[in-house]
Amino acid sequence: MIVAIANQKGGVGKTTTAINLAAALALRGRRTLLVDLDPQANSTMSFLDITQITKTVYDAVADGNCGLADVILKTPIDNLSIAPARIALAKLEAKLVGEMDAHFRLKDKLAPIRKDYPQIVIDCPPTLGLLTVNALVAATHLLIPIQSSYFALEGTDDLLETIEKVRARPNPALRILGVVITMHDKRTALAKDIRLQIQKVFGGKVFKTVITKSVRLEESPAYKESIFTFAPDSSGASEYYRLCEEVMDRA
Ligand SMILES: Nc1ncnc2c1ncn2[C@@H]1O[C@H](COP(=O)(O)OP(=O)(O)OP(=O)(O)O)[C@@H](O)[C@H]1O
Ligand SMILES: [Mg+2]
Repeated sequence: MIVAIANQKGGVGKTTTAINLAAALALRGRRTLLVDLDPQANSTMSFLDITQITKTVYDAVADGNCGLADVILKTPIDNLSIAPARIALAKLEAKLVGEMDAHFRLKDKLAPIRKDYPQIVIDCPPTLGLLTVNALVAATHLLIPIQSSYFALEGTDDLLETIEKVRARPNPALRILGVVITMHDKRTALAKDIRLQIQKVFGGKVFKTVITKSVRLEESPAYKESIFTFAPDSSGASEYYRLCEEVMDRA
């Protein structure tokens, strides 16, 4: 399973979902790789000290002589490794202009290491540019986090259009694994309405597990921990654990 976590809307919970889903998969004992494809490097910084990093996904994807195996680092979590990012990734688009295989770079670089990592999670940037397209071309599955907010569904048409384009040619096998509602506030009527709206658009694709608002989920990256060690008894930990179970059932 290679699951891309994508939504071009910013701040909807992509990184929070990527790091905690990857940690939950790793907890279950299978080797897991988290690929940070966002120049903001939020996933990377959630587990590693940026000073530890010399080579990143950018080097692997931009340079024919560098493999992903050369950039992957272990995290403090058992079974969880990370292909780190840094701001240089933002230059990738310019670097790959005119290259015939620009959309396939990540897929090609993942091919030789897939046997080492049965589970791969890709954290995407908040755009529908070349980086996200590389993730969609490489992925077997797509998971879309949607923030429980008034503007929740704004932009989903563009995302679905991009998915259809990727399916039409480079990756017909790409499946939408599901939509996860994030930052939900159970107490408000508005949140209930929004949930119904999202279910109207995505139907059975919406995961039963809803991620509620939780300060613990905001705090854990600052301590370089996943929610499972930082606050194992929190709502965030049980929700991301249940999401992981749903993901495995569907994959
Ligand atoms: N369930 C939650 N409860 C409370 N805060 C959350 C929750 N999920 C995410 N956040 C916080 O909301 C902010 C945005 O989340 P996150 O970084 O995961 O989104 P993103 O989609 O990756 O953003 P970007 O588009 O910038 O990459 C972060 O500060 C994060 O800690
Ligand atoms: Mg992010």
